[in-house]
Amino acid sequence: MSQRPETKAIRLQTDQTGQKEHSTPLFLTSSFTYESAEEMADAFADDTLEVNIYSRFSNPTVDEFINKIAALEGAEDGVATGTGMAAIFGTFMTFLSKGDHIISASAVFGSTHTILTKYLPKWGIESSYFDMNQPGSIAALIKPNTKMLYVETPSNPGLDIIDIELVSKICNEHNILFIVDNCFATPAVQQPIQYGADLVLHSATKFIDGQGRVLGGVVVGKKELIKQLYLFIRNTGPSMSPFNAWVLTKSLETLYVRMDRHADTALKLATSLQSHSQIKSVKYPFLETHPQYVIAKKQMSNGGGIVTFELKGGVESGRNFLNALQMLSMTNNLGDSRSIASHPASTTHSKLTEEERTAVGITPGLIRISVGLEHPEDILNDILQALDKC
Ligand SMILES: Cc1ncc(COP(=O)(O)O)c(C=O)c1O
Repeated sequence: MSQRPETKAIRLQTDQTGQKEHSTPLFLTSSFTYESAEEMADAFADDTLEVNIYSRFSNPTVDEFINKIAALEGAEDGVATGTGMAAIFGTFMTFLSKGDHIISASAVFGSTHTILTKYLPKWGIESSYFDMNQPGSIAALIKPNTKMLYVETPSNPGLDIIDIELVSKICNEHNILFIVDNCFATPAVQQPIQYGADLVLHSATKFIDGQGRVLGGVVVGKKELIKQLYLFIRNTGPSMSPFNAWVLTKSLETLYVRMDRHADTALKLATSLQSHSQIKSVKYPFLETHPQYVIAKKQMSNGGGIVTFELKGGVESGRNFLNALQMLSMTNNLGDSRSIASHPASTTHSKLTEEERTAVGITPGLIRISVGLEHPEDILNDILQALDKC
């Protein structure tokens, strides 16, 4: 009997131990044993054999997480990593070589930007940026050595959105590998493979965990691509720990209900903050005023759990707002059951020049709210009382 994704997120489980356990078991073991020297020799002889050898290579609890998220993303297979950045860096290192060129949206997470501009050039890999609001500019950037195109949609923190199907068509025509960071949406809201992405990756640290407990990353896609990435991760070492995989597998069981609640509350907040006298503008994918509202409606099932707004009073107001909050947490993580407020201009992006910040949509008074699972009125009331003090 076929199951809907909401059901798969809960019920997809491999019968592993024979103990008839109801919940996913946790295999905390560094390595695995063999019945004979011959069996051990066979395991080592072929890198691609699906046999557990050592938990840097594979582990049943990590496989459980990979299988589940791959099913939810509609992917053939996946690889799990210790963090989201390990997933991104591993993907770049596996599929790019000296002399290659990568095109990336300019609105990408800060550390991804650092890899593109600081580290890839050291290994002879060049990159070009395009503005997500102008996908028409991609064609002019394509060169004979362009191997990869990378986007984050919605982007962090600017919430820019790009038409995944449109970009995948361009990539197909030019034989370019198309990678989507789906961290802000999660598979509960958007499945980029359905629109033609070759590989989809996540910081599982965010909404996938959903409770701010563990770090993790994952990449899913076609088996032949995942096989190459798997060998890179297995040999270079940024593998996911079994404990984190266990936490994340349990988290997936509540992903769909959590994302529905995050998004319901986020839309309520975004709508009611729009007319506030201290706020210049509010951005949320499912607000009609979002520049890519039509695309968001096409490829996302809800607007996700992040809302941003621009305070009229700039940097000073941003600091005052954070200091006045009574319940929302002041921290740089997102995707937690606890609502979080951050002010990118004075924290995560303070080292960029104002021009660089503006180029990626970070204006002086920009506040990012990661909308949690508390009662919507309590979240709104804390924001409103803080707005009165900035
Ligand atoms: C969109 C996005 N991608 C990747 C990352 C990196 O993930 P991690 O912190 O798990 O390495 C983050 C972290 O905030 C993110 O927001």
